[in-house]
Amino acid sequence: MPASLRFVLGLLAAAVLLAIVCATVLVHQSHEEARTNAEQLTGGDSAAGRADIERLGCGSCHVIPGVAGARGAVGPSLAGIAERAELAGRLANTPGNMIRWVQAPQAIDPRGGMPDMGLSDKQARDIAAYLYTLRAARPDK
Ligand code: HEC
Repeated sequence: MPASLRFVLGLLAAAVLLAIVCATVLVHQSHEEARTNAEQLTGGDSAAGRADIERLGCGSCHVIPGVAGARGAVGPSLAGIAERAELAGRLANTPGNMIRWVQAPQAIDPRGGMPDMGLSDKQARDIAAYLYTLRAARPDK
């Protein structure tokens, strides 16, 4: 292979690599942004919320992106919940209502299908923070 061709191929390879690095950085930044927004809205810690969701077994009733084994079909999927207008078809989707709902759904509607899970105030905030990272455009996160 002539040296000039090798040089061009080398440049191409470098350009592809750079594009991959840039794309990775951008994806990471938008995840970080979603996380920061969600934590500012709720005053919760989204990583702790995800761990709580996993431990409490919300995934036995809900599909929840980013939570291992969360494939339940008793309740609605929580994919993209951050972008929905209403919660459970009853409440405006505001941070305060999200916290209230996950903490005491039976107080909002005693005939609703979601049980009270006995969450502390902190757990409810943390869980709401995680749920607000679930935007429709990125159902994987
Ligand atoms: C026993 C099954 C069950 C468990 C466990 C459960 N949920 Fe639910 N959840 C439901 C059902 C059913 C609904 C729909 C309730 C309704 O419309 O009355 C719901 C609704 C919701 C909604 C509103 C969804 C929407 O589309 O508006 C959120 C948010 C939610 N649950 C979060 C959670 C979280 C977080 C946990 C764990 C702390 C959890 N759920 C545990 C059954 C469950």
